Amino acid sequence: MRRDYLVGMRLLVTGGAGFIGCRFVRAALSGELPGPNCDGLTVLDKLTYAGNRRNLDPVAANPRLRFVRGDIADPRIVAEVLPGHDAVVHFAAETHVDRSIRADADFLTTNVLGTRVLLETALRHGVEKFLHVSTDEVYGSIPAGSWDESARLDPNSPYSAAKAGSDMLALAYHRTHGLPVVVSRCSNNYGPNQHPEKVIPHFVTRLLDGRTVPLYGDGGNVRDWLHVDDHCRALALLLAGGRPGETYHIGGGTEITNRELTGRLLALTGRDWSSVVPVEDRKGHDRRYSLDITKISRELGYAPRITFADGLAATVSWYAEHRGWWEPLSTTPALAS
Ligand SMILES: NC(=O)c1ccc[n+]([C@@H]2O[C@H](COP(=O)([O-])OP(=O)(O)OC[C@H]3O[C@@H](n4cnc5c(N)ncnc54)[C@H](O)[C@@H]3O)[C@@H](O)[C@H]2O)c1
Repeated sequence: MRRDYLVGMRLLVTGGAGFIGCRFVRAALSGELPGPNCDGLTVLDKLTYAGNRRNLDPVAANPRLRFVRGDIADPRIVAEVLPGHDAVVHFAAETHVDRSIRADADFLTTNVLGTRVLLETALRHGVEKFLHVSTDEVYGSIPAGSWDESARLDPNSPYSAAKAGSDMLALAYHRTHGLPVVVSRCSNNYGPNQHPEKVIPHFVTRLLDGRTVPLYGDGGNVRDWLHVDDHCRALALLLAGGRPGETYHIGGGTEITNRELTGRLLALTGRDWSSVVPVEDRKGHDRRYSLDITKISRELGYAPRITFADGLAATVSWYAEHRGWWEPLSTTPALAS
């Protein structure tokens, strides 16, 4: 059933205290997403190292926001929280590839079993839409051309394997039980509020401090970068008009190598290549990701709006101006990228 965007909707947003989730929640409550505001929004977030209540400070006093600290893999908590919501926007996940290489148990527990708990509870209580937020990394690596939504899943890291498992389970709940699931697969996001373990904030915060940054392998790995706010706008379009049982790609159209990205970040922070230390390549490192976004563009009129040059400059400025946000968050060089 097609809703008129978010009007009248009560949303359950999992992982709403993380990087992308907080930007979605803030935009949904502030009327920045397509269509009118939603009626009420509950954030369910475990507040792992990656979750941060302060990410929701700008909307903390909004009477339409409710925050519940809890684990999506806990059926009791999900059964208490989910009833009464019209739609689920499911961001919660363990997300850092390097952590998944070092220890993958939490990735399976949250990304696969946690998603199962949400799907099963959503089925019992009924929702109009279950938007499962996923990643291009489930396809593995592509040397040339771009994947469309029918491409074979071929994940290479425990993170992407766990995400692929959750995508397939979500789609199986549609095919088997009729749950109105929509799966989105997005390229690499960047923007404010991203944990400094991830490559752009990791590099920016270290360069701002006059420290070195580690560049994996030959630096030739290609990523397609999308500003987080463009991702959130696409998700709002999918919530309203995404067809149940379908998968949609969300991309930025900005493919660059990690070496080019590093050059841009050096220029924006006033540093030079003496700040860059080549390090051994990541195990199983995907060489290139590339998404064909024809489907969401044709069906829902999506196109990214924020250019990479503008978005990256604004992101560097945000980190320069928000030291109080990132300085308490510890990272280690071994977890870069
Ligand atoms: N960051 C990207 O570039 C990107 C790209 C494509 C897709 N995605 C997907 O988008 C989603 C959000 O990514 P992100 O970068 O914002 O992640 P993040 O790591 O910044 O945030 C994850 C959030 O989930 C919460 N969480 C983790 N385990 C939980 C659990 N068991 N129960 C409840 N909450 C839990 C954390 O506390 C945190 O707030 C993920 O599903 C990810 O796979 C991310």
